[in-house]
Amino acid sequence: MNFFRYRTFKGKVLLLLLCIMGISTFWVVSETSFKYNFHSFINTECVSGSCLVQNQSWFNQRFQNDITPLLTSNYILSEEAFNWWKRMQGERRNMTFFKKTTQEIFEMFPAFPPVPKPGVDGCTCAVVGNSINLKGSHYGKLIDFHDFVFRMNRGKTQGFEEDVGTRTTHRAMYPESAMNIDNSTYLVLFPFKIWDLQWLVKSVCSFVMVVHPAFMKYVHESWLEGAGRYPSTGCMVVILALHLCDEVSLFGFGADSDGNWSHYWETLMNKRLHTGPHPGSVEYDMILKLAKHGRVDFYSGR
Ligand SMILES: *[C@@H]1O[C@H](CO)[C@@H](O)[C@H](O)[C@H]1NC(C)=O
Ligand SMILES: *[C@@H]1O[C@H](CO)[C@@H](O)[C@H](O)[C@H]1NC(C)=O
Ligand SMILES: *[C@@H]1O[C@H](CO)[C@@H](O)[C@H](O)[C@H]1NC(C)=O
Ligand SMILES: *[C@@H]1O[C@H](CO)[C@@H](O)[C@H](O)[C@H]1NC(C)=O
Repeated sequence: MNFFRYRTFKGKVLLLLLCIMGISTFWVVSETSFKYNFHSFINTECVSGSCLVQNQSWFNQRFQNDITPLLTSNYILSEEAFNWWKRMQGERRNMTFFKKTTQEIFEMFPAFPPVPKPGVDGCTCAVVGNSINLKGSHYGKLIDFHDFVFRMNRGKTQGFEEDVGTRTTHRAMYPESAMNIDNSTYLVLFPFKIWDLQWLVKSVCSFVMVVHPAFMKYVHESWLEGAGRYPSTGCMVVILALHLCDEVSLFGFGADSDGNWSHYWETLMNKRLHTGPHPGSVEYDMILKLAKHGRVDFYSGR
């Protein structure tokens, strides 16, 4: 990934933009204020600056800085987290088998997937959900402007570039939602059972990261307060991005203005489908709160 080159390019474009506007002198104070000013500049909901007020205590009560989001070859998995994870989809096999399967993965893929570190790599991430509210949004260019673009499951770009962009650096999937991904995209696997890990061993992806079971438990307990059986992939990707990126922008979450929950590329006949075993409204509230507290930029679409 030509991450640094892209960032430099983006930096230049930004700087040019700011100079043209003749206000660069006020803004290049520190990286942080620079960043926030940039966002207030592109996000009309932020013109007053009030959306940048952060409730530290709400966020800090939930965010665990020391959690390990991804499995690495030397991972530690507590019995407690493993037992929680097993219950999600009724896995019956034991921890020994889980460990054996993950070791097979690390024989095929890098033991330490390269992940950005907030505050160090200074990266911006777009997390693109699959909501129909993207249709007609013209967010494509804005989405592509981020260093990393996370998409989910079958969320496609072809034919929808204007609204959803063209780049995909990371695609969060589980095997049942799998689609072909190109050789420059990371597959971010959310394993729900050991079979998912075995599937990965047989897959033909170039880049892979596996989300830690304890991280999935953490999202459920800390962020959703245990609501529902387990969190949706979308919700977990949002929290994952908070742990990997300095800035997170969310696109394609929630219904459209008519309350329609379809995907942007297909019509869901069953309106309830979006929640399934997941606590849909709790997750959506969490996203709105993150936005309110200035932790994500939320683009609500059409
Ligand atoms: C911040 O969040 C805490 C915990 O959720 C809450 O008790 C408090 O009232 C909030 N403060 C503001 C100013 O919203
Ligand atoms: C774990 O399961 C395997 C079979 O898959 C079995 O051979 C082994 O004894 C079990 N280990 C423990 C500690 O229960
Ligand atoms: C990735 O795929 C493109 C075309 O699909 C190909 O030109 C390129 O050589 C591939 N790169 C690697 C590292 O396999
Ligand atoms: C949702 O939107 C799609 C596409 O605009 C439309 O075909 C469908 O009828 C809508 N579904 C509901 C339940 O309103």
